Amino acid sequence: MVLLFLALLGSACRSNSARQPHSLTPQEQRGHDVFLANCAICHNAYKEEPLQGPPLVGVFRKHDLPSGMPATNQHVHDTILFGRRNMPSFNGMLDEHEISDVIAFLHTL
Ligand code: HEC
Repeated sequence: MVLLFLALLGSACRSNSARQPHSLTPQEQRGHDVFLANCAICHNAYKEEPLQGPPLVGVFRKHDLPSGMPATNQHVHDTILFGRRNMPSFNGMLDEHEISDVIAFLHTL
């Protein structure tokens, strides 16, 4: 009974759009760690304050990326892999798994 209650509570939390870090899936959690190690120096994830790069709060909930490009996995993947203007390329630094993980994390913002 207690377990059922916890399971229901868990699913209620997961459907909340303003999810907190403790409810991240394992993939999202790995992406969070990739983000902290590689992206957080230039991008805020939880506040709308620009650093060297634009804040990524709600990046996939908006129609367009800060550049005006459509907010798609493909474009964000290519931005990470190839860089863009003052953003460095992560080619050779992050593998495809890490890029997928960080994109999964960006979807939680
Ligand atoms: C050295 C600073 C720096 C680092 C590190 C960095 N970025 Fe960026 N990023 C930028 C800048 C600057 C821009 C704005 C580029 C432009 O002028 O369009 C940007 C833009 C972006 C955009 C928006 C692209 C668009 O089309 O508007 C995304 C998404 C993004 N970065 C994700 C990431 C992710 C994910 C990481 C980590 C893997 C990361 N960035 C690491 C500086 C950085």
